[in-house]
Amino acid sequence: MEFPKLKNKLILAPMAEVTSLPFRLLCRNYGASMTYTEQLSALAITRDSAKTLDMAETNSTDSPVGLQLFGRNPDILLKAAKKLYKPFDVIDINMGCPSKKIVKEGYGSALLKEKDRIKKIISILSKNIPRPITVKMRSGFKKVEALELIEIMENAGCSAITIHARTQEQGYSGKSDWELIRKVKEKSSIPIIGNGDVVDPISAKQILKQTKCDYIMIGRAARNNPWIFKQINTYFKTGKIIEQTFKEKLNLFQTYLNQGETNFKLLRMRALDFTKGLPDSHNLRNTLSRAKNIQEINSILKK
Ligand SMILES: Cc1cc2nc3c(=O)[nH]c(=O)nc-3n(C[C@H](O)[C@H](O)[C@H](O)COP(=O)(O)O)c2cc1C
Repeated sequence: MEFPKLKNKLILAPMAEVTSLPFRLLCRNYGASMTYTEQLSALAITRDSAKTLDMAETNSTDSPVGLQLFGRNPDILLKAAKKLYKPFDVIDINMGCPSKKIVKEGYGSALLKEKDRIKKIISILSKNIPRPITVKMRSGFKKVEALELIEIMENAGCSAITIHARTQEQGYSGKSDWELIRKVKEKSSIPIIGNGDVVDPISAKQILKQTKCDYIMIGRAARNNPWIFKQINTYFKTGKIIEQTFKEKLNLFQTYLNQGETNFKLLRMRALDFTKGLPDSHNLRNTLSRAKNIQEINSILKK
């Protein structure tokens, strides 16, 4: 099945403890053309974990949207996807997460070491789930193997690949290897979503120019400032780099709250993210980190 045609080049990256439904809606308001849930445990879904099922919440405004699953057993991944696929446009399999906890269980980027398993997972899902099956990967586990891996994925029925071009071993050190993304794009016949280190309009233009990737996925820069989607889209349309006013930056939190976020832990983390880099924000962020409820956050931000 084909990956959806998106209305612009910019996709919000899946991020654990960030990309809840309200955060995804916030990013769409600023111009993200597609979003993903954070990685959800296929096993927990099959066990009806209320917390995990909650994190799979979506609605008709949140479209197109991908459900991202992590797991390693093809049957469990299939069972989880069968249960939840209906409101989603794409089912994405996490083959990129580098965290020790995930890798230890053989999930996330650890799958990049298991070519047969990759093949089994993608083929069982693409044969049995009426949605495009996609993969989000790193360039390899210890060594760079993306060019070999994408061929396996594509042949198994994968509809698009997002590549964050660092190995598991690199974590977040060094730079995402955009030259590798270029080679991946050159070799593949499905949409390639380039990821890693897009932080502003100039880097967004550069990754598209250098790699010819079909779409760009933005993670950390969007977590800190969802307004970046507006800035990049405006630059692509007009060639002008608009600047965010102080008021616009402070308003991010209220706009996020207005999307219906009720999870206090997420609200406080985003209040801290959105105020990064504001002039003299040290005291403000210190007080925010101790806030106990939404009213406190609001009164701190209004001062
Ligand atoms: C807080 C955080 C949580 C993340 N959670 C996920 C996740 O659930 N699934 C996933 O595929 N990638 C996850 N990532 C990786 C991002 O999707 C992205 O690939 C990475 O941050 C590189 O892009 P960037 O340079 O634009 O941030 C996470 C990243 C961050 C910073």
